[in-house]
Amino acid sequence: MGADGPRGAPAGPLVPPRLRPVGVFDSGVGGLTVLGALRARLPGEDFLYLGDTARLPYGTKSADTVARYSVQCAGLLVARGIDALVVACNTASAFALPALAAAYPGLPVVGVVEPGAAAAVAATRTGHVAVLATEATVRGGAYARAIERLRPGTRVTSVACPLFVALAEEGWTDGAVVHAVAHRYLDAAFAAADAPDTLVLGCTHFPVFAPVLREVAGPGVRIVDSAATTAEAVAALLSARGRTPRDDRRGTLRLLATDGPERFARVGAVFGIAVAPGDVELVDLAQPPPAAGTA
Ligand code: DGL
Repeated sequence: MGADGPRGAPAGPLVPPRLRPVGVFDSGVGGLTVLGALRARLPGEDFLYLGDTARLPYGTKSADTVARYSVQCAGLLVARGIDALVVACNTASAFALPALAAAYPGLPVVGVVEPGAAAAVAATRTGHVAVLATEATVRGGAYARAIERLRPGTRVTSVACPLFVALAEEGWTDGAVVHAVAHRYLDAAFAAADAPDTLVLGCTHFPVFAPVLREVAGPGVRIVDSAATTAEAVAALLSARGRTPRDDRRGTLRLLATDGPERFARVGAVFGIAVAPGDVELVDLAQPPPAAGTA
C-alpha cells in the first residue's frame, strides 16, 4: 500500500481520529479534587466524571465489593466512550486495578495510590510519613507497600479516618465538629516526639480538610495528596500514546451520579467544581448502558 492508499487510489481527506473524554470515577464527590487537578493540567481535554453516590462509602466495604463496584463504574464510562480512565478513589485504586485491567484490556487506567505515594516520598525529610485513608485502604496496606517500593525503609503510620468521608459528603470542611474529629484521629500520631513530618491524604475526599489538618498536625508538617501527581501521570500517559495537548480549546465536563444529583451539585461546589443541579445526570448502573457514541 502506497501513501495514496490501496493500489494508488487518491487518499480522501485525512480525518483525524475522534478524541474521546478521559473518564474519572470515585464513590462520590471526593474524586472532584483529582478532577480539578486534571482540568488544570489538561485544560483542553474533555472529562466524564462519575460519582457512585448511591453506594458510597466504598471505604468500609470488602475488597471484592469495591472491585465489583469499580468494574461497574468503569463499564458505564467505557460504554459512553472514553480514551483513558482515572480511578480517582484510593480505595478503588487499592483493590480494583487488576479487575479493571482484566475487564477492559487495552484501556489505559491510572490509579491514585502510586501518585500519592510518590508525593509523600518526595516531601518527607525524616522518612516518617502518616497516611490518612479509609478503613479499607489502611487494611489493604497499598500505601505502605507503594511507599516502601519507592523509598525502602520509610516508616509509615496509617490512620483510618472514615468519618471524614461523611463530613466531606456533607460539605462540612471546617468548624467545631471537623476540628474535634481531626484531633481524635491525629493527636496520637502527631503528639509523639518522633511524629511524622509528612501527612499524605490517602483518600480523595480529604484535601478539603487540609487547612484544619495543618492546624491540628502542626505547622511543620507537610501535607500532600495525589491530585497533582495523578494529573502529571495522566498527562504523561496521554503523551506517551501520541496524544498532543489540545491547547486550542477549552475542554468540556460532564458529571454523572448514581443518586442525589442535586446534592452532588451542591457539595461539588465545596470541592471547587461549580455546577448547576440540572448539570448532573442521574445514571443507573443496574441498567444496560447506552452504546458507545450514542450518549
Ligand atoms: N474517595 C475515596 C477514596 O479515595 C473513598 C471514600 C469512600 O469511603 O467511599 O478512598
